[in-house]
Amino acid sequence: MEPLPAATPSVATLCGWALVVCLLIVNIKGLPFVHSIRLLPSLYRLLRPRLFSSPMKGSTSKPTADSTPAAAADAPLSARPRLFQHHITHSRAVLSDLDVNIHKSNSTFFADADINRAELLTRWLSRGLVGCVPILAAVQCTFVREIGPFKAYDLSSRILCWDEKSLFMVTYFLKPRTTLPSDVELAGGPAAVLQDWSLRRCVYAVLVTRYVCKGKARKTFAPAAVLATAGLLVSGVGTPGEKESGGGQLLTADIVEKAVKSGMEYVGGCMV
Ligand SMILES: *[C@@H]1O[C@H](CO)[C@@H](O)[C@H](O)[C@H]1NC(C)=O
Repeated sequence: MEPLPAATPSVATLCGWALVVCLLIVNIKGLPFVHSIRLLPSLYRLLRPRLFSSPMKGSTSKPTADSTPAAAADAPLSARPRLFQHHITHSRAVLSDLDVNIHKSNSTFFADADINRAELLTRWLSRGLVGCVPILAAVQCTFVREIGPFKAYDLSSRILCWDEKSLFMVTYFLKPRTTLPSDVELAGGPAAVLQDWSLRRCVYAVLVTRYVCKGKARKTFAPAAVLATAGLLVSGVGTPGEKESGGGQLLTADIVEKAVKSGMEYVGGCMV
């Protein structure tokens, strides 16, 4: 007796399913809910210090909406190296990212940056964000060159600068394995990267995000206070070469001031 045709799937059916599974895996980033699921670890990191509040190390108080000594406008502040450290993630232009020109659609840069920024913010700043939440107030993106289909790229974000109200973050979309020389990038900000011809060739886009930290009753928290509570800003001038407890070198107040100034200049030129 012949077996029933439906009992064993044909080679063609198997190939069809294999193709579907491959397509889903390659495009996993674009599937429904995946974006939200990828944000879950960051949400956990944000909530962890609130849920299991441990005695704070390295800082004395929660940030308050009124300016704390650390946030006093002109007090010199040195910083832990982590303050400006880049957080790098890798990504690829998948099918759902593409637009009619068969390039990564410009609108999809924002969703990508979301994940990378959320990781940075919750890794470095969770301890400073116990009494408030960072609200996304504005995003600006400068598109430098197109990303072709299925091309890989890196996202690299850091805290750019801050003023009394807003905290700014920069996100670079880069060719894979590009390292931005920290002296050029930190001292000169995104402008220095875009003006340097050899660096600019490795940049797909530069995105700047403005956050406002809001607490109860929509009170605005000074970013410097949040950074101080997170243990990233330290009051005092700092001497070059001074070691911090973790072994890294403290950034002196000079370096911090210069970095914030060039960051604010870039922001002023493209955003405000
Ligand atoms: C997207 O950005 C590229 C630069 O990377 C630009 O050439 C293109 O015109 C933009 N596309 C749209 C639809 O705005």
